[in-house]
Amino acid sequence: MSLKGKRILLGVTGSIAAYKSAFLVRLLIKAGAEVQIVATASAFEFITPLTLATLSKKPVLSEFQKDNTGAWNNHVELGLWADLMIVAPATANTLGKFSGGLCDNLLEAVYLSARCPVMLAPAMDLDMYQHSSVQDSMRKLISYGNHILEAQSGELASGLSGQGRMMEPEDILIEIESFFSKSKDFQGKKVLVTLGPTQEALDPVRFISNHSSGKMGLAIAESFFKRGAEVHLIAGPIKTEIPSKFTTVNVSTAEEMLKSAQSKHSAMDICVFSAAVADYRPAEVADQKIKKSDSDLSISLTKNPDIAQTLGKKKSQKQIHVGFALETENEKKNAKQKLTKKNFDLVVLNSLQDKGAGFQGDTNKVTIFHRSGEQIESELLSKSQVAELILDQIKNVPVWI
Ligand code: C5P
Repeated sequence: MSLKGKRILLGVTGSIAAYKSAFLVRLLIKAGAEVQIVATASAFEFITPLTLATLSKKPVLSEFQKDNTGAWNNHVELGLWADLMIVAPATANTLGKFSGGLCDNLLEAVYLSARCPVMLAPAMDLDMYQHSSVQDSMRKLISYGNHILEAQSGELASGLSGQGRMMEPEDILIEIESFFSKSKDFQGKKVLVTLGPTQEALDPVRFISNHSSGKMGLAIAESFFKRGAEVHLIAGPIKTEIPSKFTTVNVSTAEEMLKSAQSKHSAMDICVFSAAVADYRPAEVADQKIKKSDSDLSISLTKNPDIAQTLGKKKSQKQIHVGFALETENEKKNAKQKLTKKNFDLVVLNSLQDKGAGFQGDTNKVTIFHRSGEQIESELLSKSQVAELILDQIKNVPVWI
């Protein structure tokens, strides 16, 4: 695939694998990309600026100041310039600093300023790679939305053998190409995402609700938008501000969410039901605040409409519906039953058993069920990586064209 017109910021840090950066630049330039290299001072102990500058056809940047004239390299501009930032090799030091938000060299300042996706290709000795602090840094970086290109196993510079070798430049190129090739694969598609909790009023000051943060739904919306779709949101009350690039209807209750979803449904190609809709609402909403008394209080609840199930009955052969399941027992069996009950094409099972998965956090671990019986189980990933995985699976649904 051609990378013509793509602007890639390549970070090089001080590992023996820095010699492989030369091959990587060559591959990227050959594929048509424009490459700007930002290196740390210690990278130059392994590879010269001249080698990297010659291959990338641009001066290599390393210092904040260009010379003694007061001219400086603008990390913010660099961070905004790139379509993709990749740090290869990424040392334990750089991973630790990135994950901790430190900023004592140009590369770290560029990383913190970058708005584009960031890939990190770690390289280090096997014991360093397995060290809890390095593993923690990587987990943290994943949860911030970075992509870690896992180190590979084999012979290491130390003479030991194990996991720690930087991914080969040819494989990194494949990762970069696949990142760009799926960039606009949802162009022309209209997508509806329900997200967040609903609030069901008891009286003017109290309501029944749940802990849904809406983060998974927002990550899905972001991925659809990034990949070219027109995104419509129906959002329950959430703390996160919703970007204006989405067409959003804000609702409070399940009934409002259903009404809004019904009005949009027929125009949509894909619907993702990620809202944590309250299954019940108070049978009566008191006009005035319910007064405290000395006796206990019982509240009678009535069933809310099931939005996904209602619209599932209206789904045309061309539409794709994706639902979620959050179960505490018989997880897989219950998740699969929703495929038929709610007429979903895909069900995404959130695991509550795994640390880091679930409602409020930035990471998630899921199993995706297709109607064909196929199941895809993920690692613990950032919610944006889970979103990417869900979109990739939507493309495997038979009605996808
Ligand atoms: O049956 P359960 O609540 O576990 O199903 C979860 C799935 O159904 C989610 O996709 C959720 O958004 C959707 N749902 C809905 N309306 C409801 C309840 C759940 O759309 N009232």
